[in-house]
Amino acid sequence: MPKKVLLCPPSYFDVVDQKNPHMLEESSIDRLKAHQQWQALCSALEDAGCQVETITPAPGHEDMVFAANQVFVGFHQGIGKFIVPSRMVHASRQREVPFYVDWYRQRGFKIIEVNLGRDHLEGHGDLLWHPDWSRIYAGYGFRSTHAGVEKFRSAMSKLEIPVVPLHLVDRYCYHLDTCFCPLNNEAVLIYPGAYDPESIAVLRSFWKRVHELTADEAHRFMGNGIVANGRYLTPYSTPHLEAILGEEGLHPVVVDTSEFEKSGGSLFCMKAFLP
Ligand code: ARG
Repeated sequence: MPKKVLLCPPSYFDVVDQKNPHMLEESSIDRLKAHQQWQALCSALEDAGCQVETITPAPGHEDMVFAANQVFVGFHQGIGKFIVPSRMVHASRQREVPFYVDWYRQRGFKIIEVNLGRDHLEGHGDLLWHPDWSRIYAGYGFRSTHAGVEKFRSAMSKLEIPVVPLHLVDRYCYHLDTCFCPLNNEAVLIYPGAYDPESIAVLRSFWKRVHELTADEAHRFMGNGIVANGRYLTPYSTPHLEAILGEEGLHPVVVDTSEFEKSGGSLFCMKAFLP
């Protein structure tokens, strides 16, 4: 069975404000280049055996291309495939959520609404599954709030899915997916400087092998890659990263995302895997 993955074409992609420190006021987007990079990502995913599905982009939603954030996608033996809608920090991004919720609803996903109140939760920006679906790692501190993650944790406890909160402290790694990438059930790629000391100790306890990126590698989104069928799609590569991937039997595939990095996102942020 090919892995299904959801993406959103970058038709209205732009940098119009500064939601994170990667977004600079003087940034201007080359739309044609962004479109070509997005197409190359689709091709790289298909070459890795994935089946690409798309959602129709909506005008005026400059960040809708980052398909990882609007909902958390899950699977559970008892209830099947489900989503948890996000409550995004930024108003323009919050407006993307209903488009995605409708997309999933039309495809039979159960919707689990967590009553977040004034708290925030930003989908797979901050919530990542262990590859075997046994637990969820949950970053908080910049986007998702600690209380938002706790509310999510109590909703998941009803399904008996453990949630591991991790406190993020490096503003360039404002989402967990910028500093945490499971490579397989035993190995994870992280940037240790992105966590507080207690969180890094907790994180390590769940993995047999913890591979560490340098600050420079992490800030260039090399931990924001996509693992698919023995490949690691990454925006850049270094001999250090290649050695890590080699140890885990993964082959690096470089996919340029320079236009999207101006918005603080790269490969992992641009897709959602579907169960
Ligand atoms: N400009 C977007 C934002 O700041 C980028 C989102 C990147 N997504 C991610 N999963 N890290 O919200």
